Amino acid sequence: MASNKVNEKLQLAEGVHMPVIGLGTWTVFGERGNAQQVKNAVKAAIDAGGRLIDCAWNYGNEAEIGEALQDKLNEGTVKRGDIFITTKLWDTHHNPKLVKRALQDSLRKLKVDYVDLYLFHWPVSFKDGDEIVPRDEHGNVIFSYHDHLDTWKAMEECVDAGLAKTIGISNFNSKQIERILANARIKPVNLQIEVSPYFQNSRIIDFSKSHGLTVTAYAPFGNPARPWKEADQPNALEDETLQKLADKKGKSVAQVILRWHLQRGLAVVPKSITPSRIKQNMEVFDFELNEEEMNTIARLDRNMRVYVEPIALSHPDYPFNEPF
Ligand SMILES: NC(=O)c1ccc[n+]([C@@H]2O[C@H](COP(=O)([O-])OP(=O)(O)OC[C@H]3O[C@@H](n4cnc5c(N)ncnc54)[C@H](OP(=O)(O)O)[C@@H]3O)[C@@H](O)[C@H]2O)c1
Repeated sequence: MASNKVNEKLQLAEGVHMPVIGLGTWTVFGERGNAQQVKNAVKAAIDAGGRLIDCAWNYGNEAEIGEALQDKLNEGTVKRGDIFITTKLWDTHHNPKLVKRALQDSLRKLKVDYVDLYLFHWPVSFKDGDEIVPRDEHGNVIFSYHDHLDTWKAMEECVDAGLAKTIGISNFNSKQIERILANARIKPVNLQIEVSPYFQNSRIIDFSKSHGLTVTAYAPFGNPARPWKEADQPNALEDETLQKLADKKGKSVAQVILRWHLQRGLAVVPKSITPSRIKQNMEVFDFELNEEEMNTIARLDRNMRVYVEPIALSHPDYPFNEPF
C-alpha cells in the first residue's frame, strides 16, 4: 500500500522528501489556461494542502509561479522548506556550458535560491539557445547532439553549487537510464514519465524502482483536453469502468485515477487551473482501492501514449523506439 496520509512523501535522498501529489503547470495553450491562471492555480493548490509544484523552463510560466509562491511565503501560509519545487532543463540547454545558467534563469523567475528536484527534461538536444523549438527555413527542428553524460555532469555541478537539492531524468528509456546510472557521480533520484490508465508504462516503472529511482507520473489522466487528441481516442475521465468504481467509492473518476497512481507507489502531478478540481485532486487519502479494484484498472491499459513528441522522432536519442 503506497499511501494513506495527506502529505505522504517519497524519500529522494538523505533529508529530501517529495510529496506524492502535486500540481502540474503545463498550460501553454491559449484556451487551456494562461499565465495568470497558473498563478491562481498555484495559490489554490497551496491552500488545498498541495506542497509539490511541477514546473519547467519551457512552460514559460515560471515567473508567474514565482509570484504566487512569493505571495504565499509573504502571507506566512507556508515556508520555503514546506514546498517542493521541481523544474526541468530544456532541450536547448544541454550544452554543459548552458546548464547552470539555465537553472539560474529558472531560479530567478521562480524567486527561490534552489529547487528540490532538477530534471533532465528530454534525452533529445535541440540547437543551443533560448528559442524553445529552433527551426530551419523549412520548418524542421534543428537538433544538436550533446552526450547525456556531459549534460549530467553539469547537472551534478548544480547540486554541488547548492542550486538543486537532487537531480533526475524525464522521458529517458531504460538503456539511457542505465548509461546515466553507470556513470553518474550523483545518481538520478527520480524518473518523470507519462503514466495513465490507458498508458500504464509498467515495465519502465518496475525497472526504475528496481534501480532505486522513484517515479513521478505525468499526464496522469492522459491529458484529455490535449489539442492533438484524435476523435477516436478514448478519454480516461469518461471511462465507464472507472465511473462505476468512482460511484461505488463516492469519489470522482479523477480521484480514483489519482488513488490508483498512489497505490502503485508513484508520485503524481495532475494539472488543473480549476480551484475546485485542484482541491478535489488533493482529497485522495481517505479511501483505498482493494486488490480487485486495482486489477480492474490494470486491465484498462491500451498502451496509448499521448506525449509521443513527434518533433523529436528523427533524433538519434529519441527515447520511445525501445520496448521500454
Ligand atoms: N516531463 C514531461 O515531459 C511532462 C510532459 C507532460 C506533462 N508533464 C507534467 O505533468 C502535468 C500533468 O500533465 P498534463 O497537464 O499533460 O495532463 P493531465 O494532468 O493528465 O490532464 C490535465 C487535464 O485534466 C483536467 N483535470 C484536472 N483535474 C481534473 C478533475 N479533478 N476532474 C476533471 N478534470 C480534471 C484539467 O482541466 P482544467 O485545467 O481545465 O481544470 C486538464 O484539462 C503537466 O502539467 C506537467 O507539469 C510533464
